[in-house]
Amino acid sequence: MTSALFSPAKLAGLELANRIVVAPMCQYSADDGCANDWHMMHLGMLANSGAALVVVEATHVERHGRITHGCMGLYSDDNELALQRVIAQCRRAGTAEFGIQIAHAGRKASAQKPWDGAKALGPGQDPWPTFAASPLPWGEGWHVPREATEADLERVRNAFVASTQRALRIGFDEIELHMAHGYLMHGFMSPLSNKRTDQYGGSFENRMRYPLSIARAVRAVVPKHIPLGARITGSDWRDGGLTPDDAVAIAKALKAEGLDFICVSSGGALADIRTPSEPGYNVPIAARVKKEAGIVTRTVGMILKAQQAEDIIASGQCDLVSMARCFLDDPHWGWHAAKALGAEVARPPQYQRAGPKLWAPAAATA
Ligand SMILES: Cc1cc2nc3c(=O)[nH]c(=O)nc-3n(C[C@H](O)[C@H](O)[C@H](O)COP(=O)(O)O)c2cc1C
Repeated sequence: MTSALFSPAKLAGLELANRIVVAPMCQYSADDGCANDWHMMHLGMLANSGAALVVVEATHVERHGRITHGCMGLYSDDNELALQRVIAQCRRAGTAEFGIQIAHAGRKASAQKPWDGAKALGPGQDPWPTFAASPLPWGEGWHVPREATEADLERVRNAFVASTQRALRIGFDEIELHMAHGYLMHGFMSPLSNKRTDQYGGSFENRMRYPLSIARAVRAVVPKHIPLGARITGSDWRDGGLTPDDAVAIAKALKAEGLDFICVSSGGALADIRTPSEPGYNVPIAARVKKEAGIVTRTVGMILKAQQAEDIIASGQCDLVSMARCFLDDPHWGWHAAKALGAEVARPPQYQRAGPKLWAPAAATA
């Protein structure tokens, strides 16, 4: 049996052993943006999950661009050194390639960690001022951001470039820009959150102007062989918001800026929007993006089962699949999927006796 999911893929100059990607997942556990032993354990575990590529959580370009006090950043030398240590060790111990998501939280910044309530930080919790496309809170009880000025936009764009350069020095194999989930760039793109009347608001072209300028500036410093992509919004799931038609147009615009791939996610523009919860809810949108924009396309969202992932790839709807929660539940998801689909997957030599070929109850007692 030949598995499409376990067939190799090429993203710019990066060779991937299979089509499985671990989606970026905030751990809310960093120290002033610095990765620590938690990240060593978490990413080390995922390095041997069977996924060809593990994408490091949303990593923020400035201190006030973080979602929470525990979010990761690449805004200081200390941040860079700390993440370098973790990634170097994960590479020594694991089989996966490593990517990173570069982000700015915009009006969703200055928030509590999920286990502290996931609300806006209160007065005694060291909150900080936020800014966004328009001075509208994300939801009830959230900080009212100030409208981003030209100076903010320039500083943050430069910070995206600087953080990307730090990521390149660390040696990441893949870089992706966070343009989804209601954070700064999605906030500019969505008519639900962008009410500006200047060159950054109004028409689709104007709403795209700032995110595209970041994509352009970052592309200018990322060598061609390193894949650069973006996670975008497939739908705002709200009347008057971004639609799958917009997702196709966004993907085309990003492709024209030289991006190599798109990851289609959705939702998050406003606090009260509920994303669908059925299996593979973003797949039909991603399939349209792949077909109509003609760019390497990945998707995410309730992809849970090996056969489901196999079918998404085998049917040509997407080039890659990413999964988040099921890798937390089963950090060897990729190994188990390979067994189910009769495919080969890389394992570290220390764990090879758990592989299908070497697995024999008698040998297991040694
Ligand atoms: C703990 C956790 C942290 C997450 N952090 C991020 C993040 O840093 N960046 C991002 O784009 N999405 C983030 N997400 C969303 C996931 O990447 C993914 O899009 C979402 O969970 C749906 O995929 P799933 O059904 O496979 O979990 C996070 C999800 C979880 C569960």
